[in-house]
Amino acid sequence: MNNITIIGVGHVGLVTGVCLSDIGHQVICYDLDKEKMDQLNTGLSPFYEPGLDELLKKNVNNRRLFFTDSPEEALSDADIIYIAVGTPKQLNDDIDLTYINNAAAMIGEYTTKNNVIVVTKSTVPVGTNTNIKQAIQRNAQKTRNITMVSNPEFLREGSAIRDVFCADRIILGSDCSEAAAIIEEINKPFNVPIFKTDLHSAEMIKYSSNAFLAMKISFINELANLCEKVGADIEEVAVGMGLDSRIGSEFLKAGIGYGGSCFPKDTHAMLKMSEEAGEKPDILKAVMKVNSRQHYVLVEKAKNYFGSLKGKRASVLGLAFKPHTDDIRESPSIMIINELIANGVSVVAYDPKAMENTKKMIGEKIQYASSIEETLTDTDMVFINTDWDEIKTFSLDQYEKLMNRPVIFDGRNCYSLDKISEYKIDYFSIGRQPYWNALSRTWTPCT
Ligand code: UDX
Repeated sequence: MNNITIIGVGHVGLVTGVCLSDIGHQVICYDLDKEKMDQLNTGLSPFYEPGLDELLKKNVNNRRLFFTDSPEEALSDADIIYIAVGTPKQLNDDIDLTYINNAAAMIGEYTTKNNVIVVTKSTVPVGTNTNIKQAIQRNAQKTRNITMVSNPEFLREGSAIRDVFCADRIILGSDCSEAAAIIEEINKPFNVPIFKTDLHSAEMIKYSSNAFLAMKISFINELANLCEKVGADIEEVAVGMGLDSRIGSEFLKAGIGYGGSCFPKDTHAMLKMSEEAGEKPDILKAVMKVNSRQHYVLVEKAKNYFGSLKGKRASVLGLAFKPHTDDIRESPSIMIINELIANGVSVVAYDPKAMENTKKMIGEKIQYASSIEETLTDTDMVFINTDWDEIKTFSLDQYEKLMNRPVIFDGRNCYSLDKISEYKIDYFSIGRQPYWNALSRTWTPCT
């Protein structure tokens, strides 16, 4: 049996460790945050991810999964080492490989087995695996043979466990077929199709997949804006397009642009990689430009509606970059809030999971409410920024009842236009016709 070590216990590292132990492997996870490791050894996850706590507890209790902040304990008996550290974006859009380099140095210093396979889960620019191998070799004390396998991760926050067990494919890139075969064997119990390729192509597949999905989102958002002008409905258009199996129905949900820790970072990194290679990544540039613009379409609609937003009070429902996560990195909701504040609006916000992270990021710039009802009370407009079930299914008569003026700017198309027409609400969504209930008003909104 192979001893598996995971370096880096963030979203990808923890989910990988938990899932590998769940299919029967002995896994030890390393991170330098001792407090986090101690907490994880009691079976408690440091972040919210549906289903994770249960699997974590089960495998910690079964003694198949263990966490340590000691590199020696983590690496001295390791045969297979997964690198799952973060690769954040620097201010100049370069990818920061500090954590990758630290992991490589540590592997060289602490491994003792003669043959070690290093599996890279982190998203890294093409060519990085070759550099990691050289860095480990430079530092290697006892290990003689190091082979690299690029095994990019495609899990989504909020459905990470499901995405691992029901993945469409596992990508294994390597220049050593024996190493790839060993990692293939490790992954067999997941019962997921495995595609083996070379190192560089595997690295490229990860960027290309994320860039393609980002492109689908920007494309549908651009169409949504056109639909509003020509009298079509983007929800209908997306269904009709998605029925063509060449197009597919996924990632055609129009909204307020993509956010999160991956798409924005990976599209920037790919742009940089292309330009450095002397290419002209025109499509990628357009994808990013459309996305940046899309974050602000709801605020533009609000400005058109009210004329000036100064002195108004807005409620914001949803802060996370998408439902089922407490992550607010590059969240369109935070960008919308900042734009509202810049326009003189006071903001009160609510999210079922992401309040603490928002408080840490923007602090007292806004007020925080403990329920949807409290958020809406006495506000002039509401922005629906994340389509949590609790928000999507919230009763429309409460908007009428609680708000000063029931004006909804819905960035996630949570309500059908038919349903809205039963209420005295003015409703603006994405890629659909606005619903003006102006007859119920004693005042005239700007057009
Ligand atoms: C993404 C990739 O999907 C995953 O394969 C990769 O490993 C990591 O990056 P994640 O960032 O967790 O995962 O979330 P995802 O569900 O892909 O959504 C990203 C953003 O796109 C969110 O802001 C979401 O709201 C937005 N989105 C997604 C849309 O606006 N429309 C869609 O149709 C799909």
